[in-house]
Amino acid sequence: MFGLLFFVLMAHTAYGDVSYSFPEEMKRGSVIGNIAKDLGLDVNRLSSRKARIDTEGNRKRFCDINLNTGELTVAERIDREEICGKKASCVIKQELVLENPLELHRFILNVEDINDNSPQFKESVIKFEIRESADKGSRYLLEEAYDADIGMNEVQSYTLQNNENCILNVVTRANGRKYGELVLNKELDREQQKEVTLILTAVDGGTPPRSGTVAIHVTVLDANDNAPVFSQAVYKVSLPENSPVDTVVVTVSATDADEEQNGEVTYAFGHLPQKFLQLFFIDAVSGVIKLTGQIDYEEESTIELPIQAKDGQGLASYSTVLIDIVDINDNAPIIILKSLNSPVPENAFPGTEVGIINVQDRDSENNGQVRCSIQQNVPFKLVPSIKNYYSLVTTGELDRELLSDYNLTITATDEGSPPLSSTKNLHLTVADVNDNPPVFQEHNYRAHVQENNKPGSSICSVSATDPDWRQNGTVVYSLLSSDVNGSPVSSFLSINGDTGVIHAVRSFDYEQLKSFKVLVLARDNGSPPLSSNVSVSVFISDENDNSPQILYPSPEGNSFMTEMVPKAAQAGSLVSKVIAVDADSGQNAWLSYHIIKATDPGLFTIGVHSGEIRTQRDISESDSMKQNLIVSVRDNGQPSLSATCALYLLISDNLAEVPELKDMSHDESSSKLTFYLIIALVSVSTFFLTFIIIILAVRFCRRRKPRLLFDGAVAIPSAYLPPNYAEVEGAGTLRSTYNYDAYLTTGSRTSDFKFVRSYNEGTLTADLTLKKTQSAVDDLEGLDAEMSDSYQVGLSLSLKNIWWIEIVKKCIFPHSTASTRH
Ligand SMILES: *[C@@H]1O[C@H](CO)[C@@H](O)[C@H](O)[C@H]1NC(C)=O
Ligand SMILES: *[C@@H]1O[C@H](CO)[C@@H](O)[C@H](O)[C@H]1NC(C)=O
Ligand SMILES: *[C@@H]1O[C@H](CO)[C@@H](O)[C@H](O)[C@H]1NC(C)=O
Repeated sequence: MFGLLFFVLMAHTAYGDVSYSFPEEMKRGSVIGNIAKDLGLDVNRLSSRKARIDTEGNRKRFCDINLNTGELTVAERIDREEICGKKASCVIKQELVLENPLELHRFILNVEDINDNSPQFKESVIKFEIRESADKGSRYLLEEAYDADIGMNEVQSYTLQNNENCILNVVTRANGRKYGELVLNKELDREQQKEVTLILTAVDGGTPPRSGTVAIHVTVLDANDNAPVFSQAVYKVSLPENSPVDTVVVTVSATDADEEQNGEVTYAFGHLPQKFLQLFFIDAVSGVIKLTGQIDYEEESTIELPIQAKDGQGLASYSTVLIDIVDINDNAPIIILKSLNSPVPENAFPGTEVGIINVQDRDSENNGQVRCSIQQNVPFKLVPSIKNYYSLVTTGELDRELLSDYNLTITATDEGSPPLSSTKNLHLTVADVNDNPPVFQEHNYRAHVQENNKPGSSICSVSATDPDWRQNGTVVYSLLSSDVNGSPVSSFLSINGDTGVIHAVRSFDYEQLKSFKVLVLARDNGSPPLSSNVSVSVFISDENDNSPQILYPSPEGNSFMTEMVPKAAQAGSLVSKVIAVDADSGQNAWLSYHIIKATDPGLFTIGVHSGEIRTQRDISESDSMKQNLIVSVRDNGQPSLSATCALYLLISDNLAEVPELKDMSHDESSSKLTFYLIIALVSVSTFFLTFIIIILAVRFCRRRKPRLLFDGAVAIPSAYLPPNYAEVEGAGTLRSTYNYDAYLTTGSRTSDFKFVRSYNEGTLTADLTLKKTQSAVDDLEGLDAEMSDSYQVGLSLSLKNIWWIEIVKKCIFPHSTASTRH
């Protein structure tokens, strides 16, 4: 842009500015010329480019531009005489400014003179006194007529009214002006004529010509008189401008050869424009010329004062004082802001032109030479353009977020001594561009939420800031769509777009979901918008919302879940184990076991954390055969939850010794053998299952852990565990993923056996209802063998209580058992 501007200006200065000549005193609105056409500008864009006329300095604007046609028109009355006075050419400099891109064209208005002023004499009557003895051919200088116009429109000729005595001689001066001399053509005779009156007419060369007249009044004297004579024809003086009032400019003097009153000379100015009359005073007696006002070199550089000396008789002669005014550095430079593109977008490239500055100094020579500068530490500089014009351009990147406005100070200094300077302050603002994405205050966010929270509760808030302006810096939050556990993230969380507060949409269950991660997007409202994202990790913490679940014995408290305790059991023997799990974690799943009710409180103890029931002392004969225990399992949550179960223990070596068991039979008519068999089968199934679980546990634990979780007198079938039950560390319970087939005998009078798949959804006790079937089954020996084959390792490891097999065999095969015993 700058380059283009420079080119345009240079082109016109190189070939001369466009100039228009036209006569003064044209009507307002008269067309001077078509400047758009002359400069090759697009007329249609004049208005959008804000074409306007500027003037140099603070002078008047004389013309306007018609934005529709590109024509220059007269804006106000132009009086050449007022603007330029007697100057031979009257030139007005004007400027045409266009924006976007910035262009500046200088053009010149050349105002031509029209003959609108008539010649004028200073006074209406010129008085002369001429001696009667004056010779023929004597010359008397006549005052010059003044015409404000110039050139041909000035006074071109004088004519004198016809008369007997005088003729007129017109003299042309070096500067082209003319004046007249009265030449005596015939001697005067006072006796004949005491006074003569003549009319002098001055005519200018205009078309039509204008004229002015003056009367010449000649008094004929009989004395012998002389006119005064100036010491110099021209007095040349130099006077510094701004000289104080009362400064003596020059003293003129004229001498008169006459004596007495006739020789007394008085001085006066000739014709002087009004403004000079206010500046100078001449002492009529002494001829001292003094300053009475301020003279200004910038207004006039030379002043010509016509002087007249007259003696007492009225005889006059003329001289001129030429004052050469010396320039003094009395004008500080003026800084004019021609245009300013504010605000500047912050992404403007370095070198972008933001303004045009013009400096002017009315002084001349060095006093008018100006240097222009801008303060340091701002990303702007001034580039000199054509004479006295500077472009203000950026030198670096602007960043509104760092500094949104600049106060520029431009200083202009001239080269006078002492130099004068002036400053101008510019206020420049930087416009925003959406160049900053929102930035989160943290790199990632973590939210902790208790399970069973209320849906809609807020769990955390994120916050991002964007330093841009207004909507470019307004942050809107949203969740980036993704899946959590196969469901859309919106079914878990929602975010307030304005505040960044994140709400839970549902109630969380720690047992199903322990943690998840979502991405939050922060976007500003610019166009195009900028965004950034951050991850929010949500951790769900456990609450004690699951009570312990007792797996063994079955909490339903079925009476068939009876443990046999041999009479010979010693203190510390393991008789059973309560197994419970808790779906919670940590403290909430840390279980403790307590016997809360016992038939004989001193007989059995339970391991507080193992759940193992052991005899506390040796069994004695006096102990009741049937022992009931109520065990409570409690977790360690706050508040803690608990579950209870009942255990039935029989102190006996022989089922036959248990008469009470008869009552448990469902079939009143069953034989005694059937009762025994049932009891035996119950025990068999119980311990059989226990074994299998032990075996599985042992295998599993060997594979997974080097150490048994508990020693294998009691085990639980996997079917007792809730589906998908997960291992909880430290809880001391089993992980179970194994299923197995269990074999139960069904009791009947005919001693038929059937293998039944018995475990289903933890309903072992329910399946214990005995069923009669016709299918043939292997005897227990076969069963034993099969078991041994399958679970050899397990059996060898954990078969501790062999005694129950003996009981079973005794019940089923009384004879063979007897024979073995005997
Ligand atoms: C510029 O000047 C104005 C008032 O003159 C002031 O309020 C503002 O803070 C200034 N700016 C800078 C960047 O100095
Ligand atoms: C925002 O930035 C865009 C450019 O990215 C700009 O045009 C617009 O003026 C800016 N808005 C404000 C309010 O500053
Ligand atoms: C999240 O931000 C990273 C960089 O911070 C970007 O690579 C990724 O594309 C963004 N993800 C989305 C979905 O906008």
